[in-house]
Amino acid sequence: MPQLFDPYTIKSVTMKNRIGVSPMCQYSSENGHASDWHLVHLGTRATGGAGMVMMEATAVSPEGRITPQDNGIYLNSHIPKLKQITDFIRSQGSVPAIQIAHAGRKASRGVPWVLEKSLKSDEGGWQIVGPSAVPFGDDYATPHALSHDEILKVANDFKLAAKRSLEAGFQILEIHAAHGYLIHSFLSPISNHRIDCYGGSFDNRIRFLLEIVEAVKTEWPLNLPLFVRISCTDWDDRGWTITDSIFLSMELKKLGVDLVDCSSGGIAPNIKIPVKKHFQVPLAEEIKKKANIDTAAVGLITEPKAANNLIYKEQADMVLLARELLRNPYWPIQAAQYLNRVEAGLIPPQYLRGF
Ligand SMILES: Cc1cc2nc3c(=O)[nH]c(=O)nc-3n(C[C@H](O)[C@H](O)[C@H](O)COP(=O)(O)O)c2cc1C
Repeated sequence: MPQLFDPYTIKSVTMKNRIGVSPMCQYSSENGHASDWHLVHLGTRATGGAGMVMMEATAVSPEGRITPQDNGIYLNSHIPKLKQITDFIRSQGSVPAIQIAHAGRKASRGVPWVLEKSLKSDEGGWQIVGPSAVPFGDDYATPHALSHDEILKVANDFKLAAKRSLEAGFQILEIHAAHGYLIHSFLSPISNHRIDCYGGSFDNRIRFLLEIVEAVKTEWPLNLPLFVRISCTDWDDRGWTITDSIFLSMELKKLGVDLVDCSSGGIAPNIKIPVKKHFQVPLAEEIKKKANIDTAAVGLITEPKAANNLIYKEQADMVLLARELLRNPYWPIQAAQYLNRVEAGLIPPQYLRGF
């Protein structure tokens, strides 16, 4: 049976363990350009022993940013700093990954710790877009409903982002189709009210994501892993369900997607989510078993033994951690010590005397 500190190989990429840094927006980019903050933040998590370090939701176009300070990959000038970051992550024996994203109707917001509201154009905001002209919530602007041509343009933006991600040295690409952002808002009937071939039936609502996967595949090499993060359920009977996620995952698998990263929620405010320890693990397990595809589990996973157990019980193939790694970037090394799995190379030699 696999364990947390066993290597994990997908296609030509081997991670030294099954711990991944979950993507986390840092709102520390200038016109989409990553900064020294990212080098230090992601670099520290690589020295901390995670097998994979995933860069935050990185916008495929300026309108696709959540805030003006979001990271981007829509200009060639974004590439050099990202390359410096991926080089460092690799030098620590970790695999650099990137999540590419479009924030859709949740875009054009202020940075959370500065001004948590929708930005008007004179505040640096922009026209937001979505499947339908339905705002996310009361204090959100109304999105422009994308035309067919505009939908094709977004798919092309994802394709160009995949090309730049490769040039920047990333070895794993994740498409962000969760948390109520653009792709998820096409999947869910709560936000998608279209009556054309992108709305209505399940097949129509998943069309946009499948077209993006196809577009990305024209640039992303066949020998490198491709992940998709989804919200496995909207936690609302009117919305996207785990059954939908299973059928979607089967389609993604047919297209060559290697792993489904299993999150949940985010499609609308005021939906009650049963948040507790490991609450999303059963979603990853169900998709893994029923769609026969590898999955990552994420959400309130903080204990080494429990993380190891869920890998051992084959509930998921990887464990992603977010907030625990903000508190403690050395969690993977400490977990290895706890599980008696410290192997040569896990602790940077510069830090050996500290452990
Ligand atoms: C500061 C912060 C930023 C986040 N940014 C992203 C993001 O860019 N993309 C994403 O898919 N999820 C994002 N998330 C969600 C996390 O990746 C993760 O799914 C969630 O925090 C649950 O995991 P945890 O309990 O280990 O924190 C973010 C979470 C935090 C705390």
